[in-house]
Amino acid sequence: MKSFSLKLDSDTNIAKYLKIAQAIRQAIKQGQLKPKESLPSARHLAVQIGVNRHTIMAAYNELIAQGWLEAKPRSGYKVVEHLPIEASQALASKNRLSDNGHSTSAAQFQWHFAKQPVVVKASEKNASDYRFNFSGGQPDIREFPFKEFKSYFSHACQQPKFEQLSYGDNQGDAALLEQIAIYLRRVRAINDKELMICNGSQEALYMVSQLLLQAGDKVAVEPLGYPPAWAAFKSAGAELVSVEQDEQGVVPKALAKVLVKGGVKLIYLTPLHQYPTTVTLSVGRRMEIYQLAAKYGVAIIEDDYDHEFHYDSQPIAPFASDDPLGLVIYISTFSKLMFGGARIGYVCADQVLIKQLAAYKTLLNHKSNVLVQQAVAHWMRFGGFESHLRKMTRLYHKRRDHLVALLAQYQDIGLPIKFTCPAGGMAIWLDTGRSVIGLKEVLLTQDVYLQTEVEFNVNKHLAKDAYRYIRLGFAAMTEEEMAQGLDKVMQALYAI
Ligand SMILES: Cc1ncc(COP(=O)(O)O)c(C=O)c1O
Repeated sequence: MKSFSLKLDSDTNIAKYLKIAQAIRQAIKQGQLKPKESLPSARHLAVQIGVNRHTIMAAYNELIAQGWLEAKPRSGYKVVEHLPIEASQALASKNRLSDNGHSTSAAQFQWHFAKQPVVVKASEKNASDYRFNFSGGQPDIREFPFKEFKSYFSHACQQPKFEQLSYGDNQGDAALLEQIAIYLRRVRAINDKELMICNGSQEALYMVSQLLLQAGDKVAVEPLGYPPAWAAFKSAGAELVSVEQDEQGVVPKALAKVLVKGGVKLIYLTPLHQYPTTVTLSVGRRMEIYQLAAKYGVAIIEDDYDHEFHYDSQPIAPFASDDPLGLVIYISTFSKLMFGGARIGYVCADQVLIKQLAAYKTLLNHKSNVLVQQAVAHWMRFGGFESHLRKMTRLYHKRRDHLVALLAQYQDIGLPIKFTCPAGGMAIWLDTGRSVIGLKEVLLTQDVYLQTEVEFNVNKHLAKDAYRYIRLGFAAMTEEEMAQGLDKVMQALYAI
């Protein structure tokens, strides 16, 4: 029985016997103690380290329980016989850092990805990290009533509903389902669909794709659209087929031509405020599209991502409000009214589909965070949600008008910009009259975040001059910030 040195962890939060066990384990792994080798008696080691004998025995017992040591009658404690220490040491030494500080590649585990995420992040930073944030979909989080919301959270914690805090109820918290159903009936006239709560609408897009699409299926999309939705479709093996859009949105005749060829399983649309162009799809076109979907047996995903913010009139009713065949999958989110990190989205669809989605959610995450759902339900029930909604609609309306006025001034000095004032939403789609390739990268270096047509166009290989638009979000900045940021955008574009 040899004596050996133990290096004890200095962390005072770890119990002494555990530190000793950890050090012995390390000594075994490093070959200081070999399989079958005896350990010092508890009394002996206790004297060596200066601790109580019982502490050493607790450490030994811990290592017995973990399978590193065994206790033999009359011969004390030993390292267990069958430990493949040498092979482990050989692997570890291969993996040791080389002189330049990097792991030697021979020892490094190689990952072989069967799939890659299809959305590429353009910048390491988030849009909100930039001083001037023209991101088209981001709300002004500074305006969120955190203090008030805290009380709804406390309410959920003070009166926890134990039966709802475990697994199950994948479709969503009953109180929130009820509140959203009431809300959708009132503001979007949706009343004959089943509802489900998701971790943001992206989760709904992903789950719908996984359930309804397979390799080789086609999804009809507009050439200018929402890349995260495309990524969800592609992740299920589907192919995107772009359908012509004009200044009024998707063209029904062009859709008919695509559908007649066959293979299309889904049509993805953002009809209220087309993403990214902001155009509202007319009632006439909606009827034609619905009839086509019915004729060819294709479901429509209606992404109603920012219906809360419509300024000039009541927003046009969604496809989902008049869906006699039940082929519309209506998706929306609280990411615009709250913030993206809240991860509250919802999907309204035929009961058969919702039941399958709820079952599928078990594979991903079982259910959305119950406390957040309950807090939002209280917020909706006690009126805070409504008053925040009214406040933000007024604020964004003002900001939209301010951005329109600023852009009009630039037009007055002769810049070749063109735009249509959007009836709602959080962004303006601006024709700059010149190529916007490289513009985003230049502006990022000046603390300005915006997105250009390059990011929204399904066709990535058009001529350089074909990409002329930028999407100017007006929600996330004050009027002064917007004016200063826009000045930088115009300088970068026209060197004024
Ligand atoms: C077109 C569109 N759909 C959906 C979403 C919302 O996604 P989520 O609910 O996952 O935050 C956004 C947000 O930017 C969007 O622009």
